[in-house]
Amino acid sequence: MRAIETTGSPASAGAEGAGWEAILAWRAAVRRWAAPPLPAVGGDLAELYLPLLRHFAEHRTLVVAHLGQSLDGRIATASGASQWITGEEDLLHTHRMRALADAVVVGAGTVAADDPLLTVRRCPGEGPIRVVIDADARLSRDHRVFDGKPGALHIVANDAPRRPFHPAERIELPRVEKRIPIGAILAVLRRRNLAWLFVEGGGVTVSRFLAENALDRLQLAIAPVLLGSGRPSLAMPEISDPSRGLRPEMRRIELGRDLLVECVFR
Ligand SMILES: NC(=O)c1ccc[n+]([C@@H]2O[C@H](COP(=O)([O-])OP(=O)(O)OC[C@H]3O[C@@H](n4cnc5c(N)ncnc54)[C@H](OP(=O)(O)O)[C@@H]3O)[C@@H](O)[C@H]2O)c1
Repeated sequence: MRAIETTGSPASAGAEGAGWEAILAWRAAVRRWAAPPLPAVGGDLAELYLPLLRHFAEHRTLVVAHLGQSLDGRIATASGASQWITGEEDLLHTHRMRALADAVVVGAGTVAADDPLLTVRRCPGEGPIRVVIDADARLSRDHRVFDGKPGALHIVANDAPRRPFHPAERIELPRVEKRIPIGAILAVLRRRNLAWLFVEGGGVTVSRFLAENALDRLQLAIAPVLLGSGRPSLAMPEISDPSRGLRPEMRRIELGRDLLVECVFR
């Protein structure tokens, strides 16, 4: 796939804008529990998003994770700098994924390092609920993700310290061996009709979703850069035999100079 919205004729950019609006309209109808036919879009939009829409239409639930990584599997430098490893096209794709989701989920490490807003700014669309997994409630109220609209959910362990006047809604869950089971988090979100989840990092959080078999799809946007050191993308429990590695079906899509590899687990 070539650069979205940055190259091509004005006519094709206009067609892409109309296509994205059609996808948003489909998504809004599905949120109202309607069952419209899939939007008639073509080209890059169809390649990237129609398989996700089709999955959601069939199952009414979708958990997709995304990481932007270097060729050598790093999502940030050792000091935590990650802006930006992948290019403009992947950033636009990330904002589109937010606009399609009911909730965007991140770990405490990402909020501590990046102080992200997790809103939709690079494309039309409404922002999802922001969900932060922070077992020890170590994040202060000052992080931007907890402020304003759309709302934020702060998922903490039920033995975590209380932080007064924290603006996010606090959801307490029991730990199992120091961690909050991903299944318990998913159950809470589903009870709130948050059915399409976009897990946006970091590596630890995405790895836990993957290890607990909680992902329908994993998108790795691989940038043509070698960092040589830094924070790892995926880190899973050790295996001794390569034949026991996960070998999912894959889709490969060019995103500008990056390569988006989508692993399809279900
Ligand atoms: N390139 C990219 O796509 C991308 C995306 C996002 C972030 N980043 C970068 O990645 C770095 C942060 O990623 P990271 O992997 O270090 O951390 P992370 O995944 O953002 O956060 C990990 C932390 O989240 C909490 N957590 C997540 N799941 C949990 C669970 N099931 N139970 C309990 N706690 C849970 C834990 O906090 P506690 O340790 O407090 O218990 C854990 O240490 C930053 O440098 C950021 O810039 C890059």
